[in-house]
Amino acid sequence: MDIAFHKSCVGKEEIWNVVEVIKSGWHTMGPKTAEFESRFAEYTGARHAIAVNSCTAALHLALEAIGLKERDEVLLPAITFTASAEVDCYFKAKPVFVGVQRDTLNIGPRGIEGKITKRTKAIITVDYGGQPADYDEIRRIARRRKLFLIEDAAHTLPSSYKSRKVGTLADITCFSFYATKTLNTGEGGMITTQNGKWASRMRIMRLHGMNRDAWKRYTKEGSWFYEVVEAGFKYNTTDINAALGLAQLGRLEWMWRKREAVAAFYRRALKDSPAIGLPSVKPDRQTSWHLFVIRLDLDRLKIDRNRFIQELQARGIGVSVHFIPLYRHPFYRDNFPVSVGDYPNSEWLYERIISLPIYPGLTKKELEHVAASVKAVAARFGK
Ligand SMILES: Cc1ncc(COP(=O)(O)O)c(C=O)c1O
Repeated sequence: MDIAFHKSCVGKEEIWNVVEVIKSGWHTMGPKTAEFESRFAEYTGARHAIAVNSCTAALHLALEAIGLKERDEVLLPAITFTASAEVDCYFKAKPVFVGVQRDTLNIGPRGIEGKITKRTKAIITVDYGGQPADYDEIRRIARRRKLFLIEDAAHTLPSSYKSRKVGTLADITCFSFYATKTLNTGEGGMITTQNGKWASRMRIMRLHGMNRDAWKRYTKEGSWFYEVVEAGFKYNTTDINAALGLAQLGRLEWMWRKREAVAAFYRRALKDSPAIGLPSVKPDRQTSWHLFVIRLDLDRLKIDRNRFIQELQARGIGVSVHFIPLYRHPFYRDNFPVSVGDYPNSEWLYERIISLPIYPGLTKKELEHVAASVKAVAARFGK
């Protein structure tokens, strides 16, 4: 049996929506994008939602809007995808890696406080696997130390913190609609904020620095006249992507319930395997279940994590590791060296984590095969 690590979940609605846009004669950013933005703002409760072509673009625009400058420092988790850190480098600012907590793989208040210097300008939180970070405490630190708080919510839809949906927890929130994410438009992203000044800046900067609503210049209600007020970027999305996004947004809760059922199945099936640690979710928050990450108890195994992965792959199971700590990558190692000993949890986790398949389309047979294989490998190589 071959089980993919990820398979996109699309229904008839996605197909009809896309066909409708293709037939409409207008394919790039336009009325569907505006509709997607307003539905997304309504869904998250945010005042402003700005659609872009990736979460990386969203993070770049967010840092531009807060005025990040050369030599500023930005705090972010040591365990995340490179996008959270590469965007700092666009400004010649310095990504500063904060060690993650063992239970959630998120950064916490103590780790953040320990890395703040006079140069720190912003904190980028990443909601690892979909579980929101400790926003009350982190917001308090940001306010007290006059730092901007940007949430990399690439994994975080639909998630909530103390019953509040993600989208208004930080100063600016950046979502990803990349193909493997919980809302998938192939490529895409969204920015939410309550701040109107930043919102209009980001709208202008996502489309060449042309002034507001320049995308309407080819329509009846628009005007051919526009002005370029900045050297902006080409980060707009398209109405084709927005058509996909609207259909996916409509099925978001349904898809979440399916992933939650997968997580519940894994929990039940693996709870008696002593070598397998299960993900922990704090009681005051909801995770999107973008990832289901187990941790191996290496003291109970004769093999390491890499060999464990090989054994699962040999049984036809697609798995992954989220993520290699950023300071281990050649680029960050050479340009922003750290002392690895300062990251005991990140190192401990990196040796032990494996992401299992979790998506709505997984069948009962497939789930049983994944769980049985994890248990079989743990038993065969147990000590
Ligand atoms: C934590 C995190 N941030 C940002 C991104 C970048 O998202 P995108 O591919 O939409 O730019 C990813 C993508 O995997 C991610 O995992």
